[in-house]
Amino acid sequence: MAQPAFIPPDQLARVVVSADQIARRNRELGERIAGLYAGRELTIMAVLTGAMIFLADLIRQIPLQMRLDVVSISSYPGTATRSQGVRWQLPLSADLSGRHVLIVDDIVETGRTLEAMTDEIGQMAPASLRTCVLLRKQRPDLTRRHEPDLVGFDVPDEFVVGYGLDYDNLYRNVPEICVLRQHAETPR
Ligand code: IMP
Ligand code: MG
Repeated sequence: MAQPAFIPPDQLARVVVSADQIARRNRELGERIAGLYAGRELTIMAVLTGAMIFLADLIRQIPLQMRLDVVSISSYPGTATRSQGVRWQLPLSADLSGRHVLIVDDIVETGRTLEAMTDEIGQMAPASLRTCVLLRKQRPDLTRRHEPDLVGFDVPDEFVVGYGLDYDNLYRNVPEICVLRQHAETPR
């Protein structure tokens, strides 16, 4: 019988960010955000589904009065490992005018998701608008459409899973950020 494992050992290539590193960085980001919005009410706008684990941990490190809203956007449907374009699945419903809005997502690659988000929310006349991601993919060949204001970690240009990030909706419950064997250094 196979031992219980978040990822079958023969499918895991390596861990790129450990659970301890993530927890430490979340505390630092929380402190930073609390400083940026001190004395203000903050509105977090999270991008589901990938950001949900990061979101849950991060917001508990931010000792401020806070509102929480979510949208759902998918750009890597099913087994895609390159962006297929931004698709809104659950649109923005909150009225964000006059609010201090911080968009929280799991990872930025091309920047299309954050660009779509900042375009939409920017039109609602928020008092301020910033973006925060746990991961930023290093792509020297790429001019990103949006550079996030706050970043947890830079990761290599490989498809990563875990801590909310999925491949075909699998591996979101993995406590660390990992590369799968089949995606390790895949040539494009
Ligand atoms: P962008 O729009 O190209 O910046 O891609 C960002 C979105 O694509 C994120 O919100 C993720 O959901 C998804 N994504 C990008 N890279 C990865 C990855 O390596 N693993 C899992 N999801 C990814
Ligand atoms: Mg996403």
